[in-house]
Amino acid sequence: MTMPTWYTSVEGNARRRGGGPSRRVVELLAAVLFVVLVAGAWSAGLLSSSRIGITPDGPDADVDTVADAGRATDGADGAGRPRVVVSMSTFAGRVQDANATIASLVDQDYPLDAIYLHVPPAIERLNISGTLTESDSAVLKFWDGRVSVRRPVDLGPTTKLIGALYAERDPNTIVITVDDDVVYRPDMVRGLVESMTARPKMLSTYGC
Ligand SMILES: *[C@@H]1O[C@H](CO)[C@@H](O)[C@H](O)[C@H]1NC(C)=O
Ligand SMILES: *[C@@H]1O[C@H](CO)[C@@H](O)[C@H](O)[C@H]1NC(C)=O
Repeated sequence: MTMPTWYTSVEGNARRRGGGPSRRVVELLAAVLFVVLVAGAWSAGLLSSSRIGITPDGPDADVDTVADAGRATDGADGAGRPRVVVSMSTFAGRVQDANATIASLVDQDYPLDAIYLHVPPAIERLNISGTLTESDSAVLKFWDGRVSVRRPVDLGPTTKLIGALYAERDPNTIVITVDDDVVYRPDMVRGLVESMTARPKMLSTYGC
């Protein structure tokens, strides 16, 4: 399987609620390493949908989505621009807290082909039920049509990456994974895309 190009969010490109800077840097490095390992395992066939117990149709098969606007599979838009999607995950009870994050993604000054929001139906490792609160539902309804909401099985920190890989079919799609507690600057996506386009063999990060 050909892997789409992906990026991970970085420390310092945005306002974050809580958490000291040094801890975030360490978390970032751990996250980057983890994603590299997962990507490697996936392409080497060590990690497959059957091994992790999800159906070939994708982790959210048979689960309702509020919107699936971003599920186009037609690659670039014909203007020589790569297909670019942003993917995040959060959980029930916390969707409302992610509203400002979602708004900052919708407000990016680079045209996004999809914004994926993964909300697993339950997170067993954290003993969290998947029941959406009224506020959660209000937020999802507000963004209906602009954000593609998916309810995959929880795959831990990889949920947002693997979820996007299931949704995207073009191996050249740029997948940018972001956290649910950061308000991103409007030029975050453009900065990453320009950086990776200029230096395709480097891992781009973006800070302020
Ligand atoms: C999980 O949460 C439920 C409901 O909040 C609680 O009754 C149960 O004891 C929790 N289980 C564990 C293992 O913490
Ligand atoms: C979510 O954020 C948007 C943009 O700031 C705001 O207009 C909207 O009222 C918020 N929705 C909810 C349910 O908080």
